Amino acid sequence: MADETITIIDNRTGERSDIPIVNGGIDATSWRKALPDVLFTDPALMSTAACESSVTYLDGGEGILRYRGYPIEQLAEHSTYLEVAYLLLHGELPTAEQNEVWIHDITYHTFIHENVRKRFLEGFHYDAHPMGMLVSAVAALSTFYLDAKDIHDPGSRMKQIVRLIAKMPTLAAAAHRFSVGMPFVYPDNSLSFPANFLSMMWKVAEPRFSTHPVLVRALDVLFILHADHEQNCSTTAMRTVGSAHADPYSACAAAAAALYGPRHGGANEAVIKMLNEIGSLDNVDDYIAGVKQGKGRLQGFGHRVYKSYDPRATIIKHVADQVFAVTGKNPLLDIALKLEEVALSDDYFISRRLYPNVDFYSGLIYQAMGFPIEMFPVLFAIPRTAGWMAHWVELLEQDAKIVRPRQLYVGHDKRDYVPVDQRS
Ligand code: SDX
Repeated sequence: MADETITIIDNRTGERSDIPIVNGGIDATSWRKALPDVLFTDPALMSTAACESSVTYLDGGEGILRYRGYPIEQLAEHSTYLEVAYLLLHGELPTAEQNEVWIHDITYHTFIHENVRKRFLEGFHYDAHPMGMLVSAVAALSTFYLDAKDIHDPGSRMKQIVRLIAKMPTLAAAAHRFSVGMPFVYPDNSLSFPANFLSMMWKVAEPRFSTHPVLVRALDVLFILHADHEQNCSTTAMRTVGSAHADPYSACAAAAAALYGPRHGGANEAVIKMLNEIGSLDNVDDYIAGVKQGKGRLQGFGHRVYKSYDPRATIIKHVADQVFAVTGKNPLLDIALKLEEVALSDDYFISRRLYPNVDFYSGLIYQAMGFPIEMFPVLFAIPRTAGWMAHWVELLEQDAKIVRPRQLYVGHDKRDYVPVDQRS
């Protein structure tokens, strides 16, 4: 099997080591045995497989995304977010009976402890960013469910997972209602997962919230598209903190904190701010010229893995058409379409294989549906919780070791202490 190995020759000693290529990778510990004094350096893990996983498959060159083998296009067309969450967690689509039990379990765990709302969330400053509130509230849940530390008990794990998936929309909506001075809306168990979230977001004085079914379905599809994405930054945070055997709420809060970054889940908020800054079609060419001169980045463009069109962006463009037919077209859409047209024909972006990613159009839909831009990363965190939890379970079932990388030390050599009166 010579073609399934690589050979390392240490030219300092002439020693040769054959290392097998397994599942498309070479085991770095084999490298260490061959060269114990030489480390790999890969600061952003751009060329490193941090783990083995069977949850999600990406092919960045072909623009392929599959959850447990199912193409994202088919799941977006035929499935629901809760069914996809079950698939990510259990590895198989649920039977009708399993789905019924799953939906019931999630539905009846949407309430949050009154102290989380009254004593915790309402303790924030009036203009607190809802994502900062969500990250904090998720961490705070670890103090309400002390059995969460039983991470080796599958039953306890699943109980926490159900709580997290179910309560994320409630916490998200509560943060929004607080930030706009509206009263908290309790979950309505007669509604679907996406409809219940919209009810908790928008219900005012009517007895029961209702909205256009196209908007409910559009939100469910957006949740499906954002449910998981392999070893992205926030999932890596989840796996890192989870590897320390922290409870799932603390690990999930770490993942949500990573997602908050504008390079990651905060990008759709940055896209809207960029489109507003551009302001009109006439300014598109000048903005693109500025990006090419290094005066900033085209938000919503580029991806560490996708070097072709993000398959989610293709689906989201279709969802946008359906939403705008109900809400009216987002006036920023024309600027976004012009930006895409100009960028995709410009060698600066083509040569760097920069295409619209999931965030380029999602913000336009959320804004047309009435969500304030501060809620956009929160809307990303709600569905990504299922993916984070699937990876958390996987790392525990793999009995993964604690994440503790090494470094290449480039600092000072040994030197002696200098008394303060002798320092220049
Ligand atoms: C998400 O990982 C995931 O899976 C994430 C995600 C998920 O579902 O979890 O898909 C969600 O985070 C999508 C990405 C959202 N972020 C943005 O849209 C922010 C804008 N995009 C970038 O900042 C950037 O593209 C990243 C962060 C997404 C990827 O950065 P990389 O892989 O580190 O690429 P890079 O910074 O090394 O860029 C390579 C080149 C550079 O040019 P040179 O230095 O070679 O001349 O491309 C340029 C960059 O300057 N470049 C851009 C650009 N993105 C990269 N130039 C202009 N506009 C951009 N958006």
